[in-house]
Amino acid sequence: MTAKSKVLIVDDDPRVRGTLSDVLKLKGHAPLTAATGKEALERIETESPAVALIDLKLEDMSGLELMKEMRRRSLLDTACIIITGYTSQESVIEAMNLGAYSYMRKPYDMDQLLLTIRRAIEKGEAEERLRKSEERFRALFEQSRDAIYVTTRAGRFAGINQSMLDLFGYSREEMLELDVRRIYADAADRDTFQQEIEEKGSVKDYEVRFLKKDGAQMDCLLTATLRRAEDGSILGYQGVIRDITERKKAEEALRASEEFNSSLMKNAPIPLLVANPDSSLRYVNPALTQLTGFSPAELLGKKAPYPWGTEETLEKTGEGFEQAMRQGARRVEQLFQKKNGERFWVEISATPSRQKGQFNYYVANWLDITERKKAQQRLEDAFVDLTETVSRAMETRDPYTSGHQRKVAALARLVGEKLGLSADELQGLYIGSLLHDIGKISVPESILTRPGRLTAEEWSLIQVHASQGHEILKETTLPWPVAEMALHHHERLDGSGYPEGLSGDELSQEVRILGLCDVVEAMSSHRPYRPARSREEVLKEIEGGRGTKYDARVVEAMLEIIEGGALEPTQAKQ
Ligand SMILES: [Fe+2]
Repeated sequence: MTAKSKVLIVDDDPRVRGTLSDVLKLKGHAPLTAATGKEALERIETESPAVALIDLKLEDMSGLELMKEMRRRSLLDTACIIITGYTSQESVIEAMNLGAYSYMRKPYDMDQLLLTIRRAIEKGEAEERLRKSEERFRALFEQSRDAIYVTTRAGRFAGINQSMLDLFGYSREEMLELDVRRIYADAADRDTFQQEIEEKGSVKDYEVRFLKKDGAQMDCLLTATLRRAEDGSILGYQGVIRDITERKKAEEALRASEEFNSSLMKNAPIPLLVANPDSSLRYVNPALTQLTGFSPAELLGKKAPYPWGTEETLEKTGEGFEQAMRQGARRVEQLFQKKNGERFWVEISATPSRQKGQFNYYVANWLDITERKKAQQRLEDAFVDLTETVSRAMETRDPYTSGHQRKVAALARLVGEKLGLSADELQGLYIGSLLHDIGKISVPESILTRPGRLTAEEWSLIQVHASQGHEILKETTLPWPVAEMALHHHERLDGSGYPEGLSGDELSQEVRILGLCDVVEAMSSHRPYRPARSREEVLKEIEGGRGTKYDARVVEAMLEIIEGGALEPTQAKQ
């Protein structure tokens, strides 16, 4: 009971009002009074008392008329207790029919009246609680974004919320008139549903295809429970319907797309793999297993380094590999090996797949370029072979220096390797060295082969071979500075060389290597005008020129080679 419940006393007798007021106040109520029906209506409207004690006989209207007016104005939340002064069975019945809570006959027992008032207040409060609770549930029901309904067992709707109407496209009136079976795409589904729910008491996420008013079908999930009467008999069902048509479509599309992708990958003629972010293999296609000779069982789930790795590629796994996975790769050439140990070249392109910004998986495709690599190698070999042939052909003019260029080239490659040059730089160094004296083709044979000291004029004719070599080679499109190597191979670091007297940084690495190798090879060989120099003389020359005429690092490398016995200073003597 609330602290002070308002009780309205409606009586034309001021004494009655006064006495009752005093008693009610004493009992903890908050009495209000009204002498007429009109006054009573005003007080009820403004004060909303919990209870009204209404004398059946008032000056301006009867208590019954007052109640009728209260009902008209929706004021019957106030519990009415009718007080009758005379026996009038009909009036009492009418009052009860109008919704009076109770009635008392005069003279009444005060305790009895107080008890009746208290019960009326309690009932009002209980009803109020129920009403508020109902309001909350009604709001939930009405505002729910899920379609909620209540049906009878026979198949009529008894309650429908707005979402239900929106989902099906009917008006409330139309839906209340509808046979429930009409919303099923297949009416027989309703019978199946009914059977199942009555057996189990409820159904959860039951898949049903429903029909909208406009005939469109939708896939829905139905969750429903039984409604039972107090005696346990089934009244009907209440449930929630969720439209999953869009979800179903998306799932269907995803499945179709996955099927499409996997068939695409499976039938692709190029090797393909899919790897997880931790590098474990998620998928390998038949083209890949066929190429490598490893079965899917030997590959799936394996993390890098993969079974096809070679020493060269294994070095590249780890952090760099993970980064490559994240960034993707474009046409990276790799040497791999098959299960049987056979080596093959592939060109790898890879694309990482991200989902919501997260690195999800990685798809890589291989292009088997072994044949291309072999053809490339054959072409390179043929080119080197041809260059060596040109070099040999040229040297036939001067039997004394036969093999000089090839020996210089071999020596230069050894020095280049010691200095850590790349494969491509070594190749350029080798080719340039093979051709470095090509300009001698324009030096008269008589001078080249003449024993004894040369005159100054003859000597200057020989010196022309450097710029002549440059003239011959400058038009080539070779990717290495071969023309520059021919032009500068007699230049020295200290500016003492020819033809331009370059010094220091003006001498390229290739020229520094070639220059020293040329000197070492020439000194070690017999010449028409002098015999081969001794090993000591060669060492004295290059050590003496270390850091002045010759690059110190190149000299170091050369000394190592000579000490290692790779070059015998007198080898060209025979
Ligand atoms: Fe030369």
